[in-house]
Amino acid sequence: MTTTAIKLDHLTKNYGTRRGLADLSLQVRTGEVFGYLGPNGAGKSTTIRLLLDLIRPTSGTAHVLGLDPRADAVRLHRRIGYLAGDFVADGRQKAGECLSFLGNLRGGVPAHRITALAERLDLDLDARIKSLSKGNRQKVGLVQAFMHQPELLILDEPTSGLDPLIQQTFLDMVAEARAEGHTVFMSSHIMSEVEAVADRVAIIREGELVALDTVADLRARSFLQLRITFAAPVRAEEFAGLPGVTDLTVDGATLTCRVDGSPDPLIKAAARHTVTGLRADTQDLEELFHTYYTSQSDEPRSGNAA
Ligand SMILES: Nc1ncnc2c1ncn2[C@@H]1O[C@H](COP(=O)(O)OP(=O)(O)OP(=O)(O)O)[C@@H](O)[C@H]1O
Ligand SMILES: [Mg+2]
Repeated sequence: MTTTAIKLDHLTKNYGTRRGLADLSLQVRTGEVFGYLGPNGAGKSTTIRLLLDLIRPTSGTAHVLGLDPRADAVRLHRRIGYLAGDFVADGRQKAGECLSFLGNLRGGVPAHRITALAERLDLDLDARIKSLSKGNRQKVGLVQAFMHQPELLILDEPTSGLDPLIQQTFLDMVAEARAEGHTVFMSSHIMSEVEAVADRVAIIREGELVALDTVADLRARSFLQLRITFAAPVRAEEFAGLPGVTDLTVDGATLTCRVDGSPDPLIKAAARHTVTGLRADTQDLEELFHTYYTSQSDEPRSGNAA
């Protein structure tokens, strides 16, 4: 068994003069949950369509489960559970009929498995698809992706339209697939839903990789934002240059700064004065993620891209 589920090498896709994906290289390990994040138009769906050979690259290569999607698309599709970002199913069919039909196309899926998934996701299999709400239609898409227990799940915005309760059920399903040794590649706009289940996260923007790291390491990069108020004005010089302290501003008796690592030196320096107020905010992953979304000048940061 290969230890790399997905391998992209210098993958590039241009749509005419428009850039879809630019020179993207990354690897997804077998058995990991990999979150693929980026703003609208970043290239997430483009990447996913390339993995499934729904579109062809301008240059570069993709390997999925050790195979070339361009040569082995049919063989590959049996081993993959795919949920398209714009999943559409036939409107006149009942949800259950549609799912058994898709199951048969994949060589047969036991009916009890479809029923069990539908029950978990609270999907009515007797409802006609055209009568289903957006979120309930998305559930049909989820069931068809999971029902044959594929070794690789490729999910494009799987939680789109799901209510918070069902989102949690979905995250449980992802965690269970991982526990089975299966690999999950999922795209999202929202860090918080990915950080709960993902081992690693890649962030792309404008077709380029801007970050790739474990969720734990991304979290370690977050920092404290501190605001201290004193009984009397203090001097900035007393605090500037303390280890880990940056973005320092002192306005009379109010100090604000950012602290990376231990806040101890700053707290000890502050304790020389009478402190009347203290406020500490942790930058969470969502905010860190926003800085990646918006900053144009960032160098690509790659923790362990291999
Ligand atoms: N068929 C197409 N023809 C022309 N341009 C396209 C096509 N598909 C995608 N693009 C362009 O490629 C870029 C990446 O699009 P893509 O759909 O991969 O983004 P995405 O990250 O999935 O965005 P979203 O979060 O909105 O789903 C965008 O600039 C988009 O306009
Ligand atoms: Mg998309």
